[in-house]
Amino acid sequence: MTFRPTTLSRRRVIAGLGASATLIVLPPSVAVAQPAGDDGFRVLRAKAGTAHLRGPAARPTRIWGYDGLSPGPILRVKQGEELKVRLVNELDQTTAIHWHGLRIDNAMDGVPHLTQRPVAPGESFDYRFTPPDAGTFWYHTHFLSSEQLERGLYGALIVDETTPVNVDRDMTLVLDDWRLTANGDIDPSFGNMHDAMMEGRLGQYATINSQDEFEIKLRTNERMRLRLINAANARIFRLRITDHETRVMAVDGQPCPPEVIADGWLRLGPGARTDLFLDATLKSGATARIVIDNGRGGEFALGTLAYDNSAPLREAPLPAPDALPANPLPTQIDLKSALTIDIPLDGGMGMMMGGGMMGGMGGGMGGGMRGAMGPGRFNGFGLPSQERLWALASISSSGHDGPPLFRVARGRTVMLDFVNRSLMPHAMHVHGHHFRQISNGGMTPYWLDTVIVDPERSERVAFVADNPGKWMLHCHMIEHMATGMAAWFEVT
Ligand code: C2O
Ligand code: CU
Repeated sequence: MTFRPTTLSRRRVIAGLGASATLIVLPPSVAVAQPAGDDGFRVLRAKAGTAHLRGPAARPTRIWGYDGLSPGPILRVKQGEELKVRLVNELDQTTAIHWHGLRIDNAMDGVPHLTQRPVAPGESFDYRFTPPDAGTFWYHTHFLSSEQLERGLYGALIVDETTPVNVDRDMTLVLDDWRLTANGDIDPSFGNMHDAMMEGRLGQYATINSQDEFEIKLRTNERMRLRLINAANARIFRLRITDHETRVMAVDGQPCPPEVIADGWLRLGPGARTDLFLDATLKSGATARIVIDNGRGGEFALGTLAYDNSAPLREAPLPAPDALPANPLPTQIDLKSALTIDIPLDGGMGMMMGGGMMGGMGGGMGGGMRGAMGPGRFNGFGLPSQERLWALASISSSGHDGPPLFRVARGRTVMLDFVNRSLMPHAMHVHGHHFRQISNGGMTPYWLDTVIVDPERSERVAFVADNPGKWMLHCHMIEHMATGMAAWFEVT
């Protein structure tokens, strides 16, 4: 059987953009948060707003966002400085904010029922924490996410290095795909079982910073830091910038050895971030494009790089950069005495087909499958049986009910052994910790907080459980998380 391809269509006419842009004043690509009040808290209001997803000429789309914006205001703080944010809930649903990738106090992690009380409509909640790591992070709702995240409740959180990094400009690019109805509204079919069974909710309308025609203006020989964040519910973006060399400087917020991407393609799962350095090496007046893979072997443009006509910023591009300054990550990952947790990932369409059609791929690893058919076949916690479509370590859970998947004493190394026995990729995310990938018995030089586990593949990751509290571990394809691919663990 073939799965219905979900592809992105693009109405793309780049010509003419200049004309319309002079007529209509676009909002800044990403708003910057209001300065803090007298008590040091920046207020973030979760509320309805609009976004010109289909361009300035089309009817705007009603979204939900922080301060009514999607992406929400960029929150920016220096490494080692405290951030204080007061969430005010002006929605008619309960909510909370999770600070994705930040290794902060558990009480501030923002997971309703696990780490905090849910914030009811009209209520507020004060978050305050000091991010230990400099880098690119993001914040987003962690409640009814299939609807709330899709409607736009997310924003970037940038932690600046204590000594400024030598770049000419620093830009944040938040990627999302939106499923819109014909008249441009957000399609309200949130959490439908078909999406959940398959890849999760994919949209047909992809944007950078919610703009239809995203444009970066640049000058020859300047160096830009581009912070990419995938805020989509489920889409794995494959993205490249044409005609330029791009250098990966950080992954999931953490610096890595600088590496030029050989073929230029970057693969970014839901929740993931990549910091790139891009040297503007074209001539004045030149253009290049930011393109994504359309899933059918083609590509289409999400944005443009437009060189202005002024003189080069400097005579030649800057020399190859040094690595970004290291963050205070644990130095002792002790694989030998690690607590190893086997995490088979099961469910979805392949499971519906039972052992028959998928017999080949499922053969020999039937442990978690138990010949079950149809929705609700897994044991679970906190989910009605008809919503148990996916399982993590053979349990379908809300991620905050039931017993922890494991408990571990603070300071011990944990190894997670993900084995994907399903037909879909999964973006496995651990709260409160960064991990390293294990390959060929060694560790990759990257620190991640989310790892893509492709169908029929496995990934092993290891981290030091150094942050006490109750932490979620889940697939960041939101519809998978919502239908069982979630758990929690406790560091004591
Ligand atoms: Cu972005 Cu539970 O995570
Ligand atoms: Cu998943």
